[in-house]
Amino acid sequence: MLRVCVCVSGGGTNLQAVMDAVDAGTITNAQIVRVISNNKGAFALERARGRGIDAVSVSPKDYGDREQFNEALLRCVDDAEPDLIVLAGFLVVLPPMMIRKYEGRIINIHPALIPSFCGKGYYGLKVHEAVLSRGVKITGATVHFVDEGTDTGPIILQKAVEVLPDDTPEVLQRRVMEQAEWVILPQAVNMIANGLL
Ligand code: GAR
Repeated sequence: MLRVCVCVSGGGTNLQAVMDAVDAGTITNAQIVRVISNNKGAFALERARGRGIDAVSVSPKDYGDREQFNEALLRCVDDAEPDLIVLAGFLVVLPPMMIRKYEGRIINIHPALIPSFCGKGYYGLKVHEAVLSRGVKITGATVHFVDEGTDTGPIILQKAVEVLPDDTPEVLQRRVMEQAEWVILPQAVNMIANGLL
């Protein structure tokens, strides 16, 4: 059974998609052992607790400097003894120490088709704002392994989504989530849990 630790910062709809897929049996051989948020108020934590999953926050505000926060975050991850770490809207730059320790065992969901609209400054709604202002007609989402760059690790899955003429960033974000993110993130977890990668 693959032990999965999910890191979140906000609403947690991608976490929800993974939890639902575990319950529905479309993800097999995996269990979510811990959900970690850098944000105490993240609704994602409530979603996890509602399912009886261990949900904890590690906030930079509680530590004197970044080094101490990084150490606390890594300790919190280590304590869960994960086989896989899923970044599901986790808006924290991971400590390099953590990336090295869990090399090949951290995946991230990004709300665009990498290598477009990715890298520093491209997260959440900002990605969809940039897509609309550039006028591209196709966007989507990507699941990739995490390396020490920003959105540069090997790509696991991608799914394209159409941009429609009257889209606002919010409307487009929702369509990308529904049609791409909530599909490919659970799919990638299932592939890893079943040795299909
Ligand atoms: C998702 O759209 C995810 O792809 C994005 O943040 C959102 C989190 O939503 N992540 C990034 O932009 C990372 N670069 P959620 O909390 O509802 O899953």
